Amino acid sequence: MMDAQEAIHTRRSVRRFEKREISDEIVELLLSAAMCAPSARNQQPWEFVVIKDRDMLDAIPAFSPYASMAAFAPLGILVCGDTRNLPSPGFWVQDCSAATQNLLISAHALGLGAVWTGVYPMDLSDGRVTGFVKHCHLPDGVVPLAFVVLGYPAETPPKQNRFNEARIHANVW
Ligand SMILES: Cc1cc2nc3c(=O)[nH]c(=O)nc-3n(C[C@H](O)[C@H](O)[C@H](O)COP(=O)(O)O)c2cc1C
Repeated sequence: MMDAQEAIHTRRSVRRFEKREISDEIVELLLSAAMCAPSARNQQPWEFVVIKDRDMLDAIPAFSPYASMAAFAPLGILVCGDTRNLPSPGFWVQDCSAATQNLLISAHALGLGAVWTGVYPMDLSDGRVTGFVKHCHLPDGVVPLAFVVLGYPAETPPKQNRFNEARIHANVW
């Protein structure tokens, strides 16, 4: 198992997958890592829809075109925010984004490949939010934020060094 520094620095989006199932034990590890994320007032607004059904995965690109790789993947996890009755309602996107990033890093550390495909707030322009709400029967107030597509990797994008000193400001801009 790689350490946290290595996992963070070598993670890349993977969009091509082997035809190999992911076990329920691995899925539980991924979701456990996602739920370790920090959240405002520890409100933990996340909910996860685990999609393994072949027909359900195949239907996703029709309403979420930038998730076309879902039709060739064994697993998708829809990260949603339950926005009902939150103590810090304005922070649910950040909370669920932190959970999504934990999921991606954990997947990479476990030898899986994954890609975050954007859902919220892409609704007025192309209906991705509405598409996932209908597809996964989400109740009112539960908003799909990100759809993570996963599988054993059939490609290995190289590590990139994105360190940029110009983006760092000491004390003041
Ligand atoms: C909010 C968000 C939305 C994204 N949406 C998509 C998407 O719809 N489809 C896709 O293939 N990749 C998507 N990506 C992945 C980015 O394209 C990718 O992270 C970026 O190009 C950097 O590459 P890396 O992940 O390999 O470091 C998204 C990433 C983020 C954080």
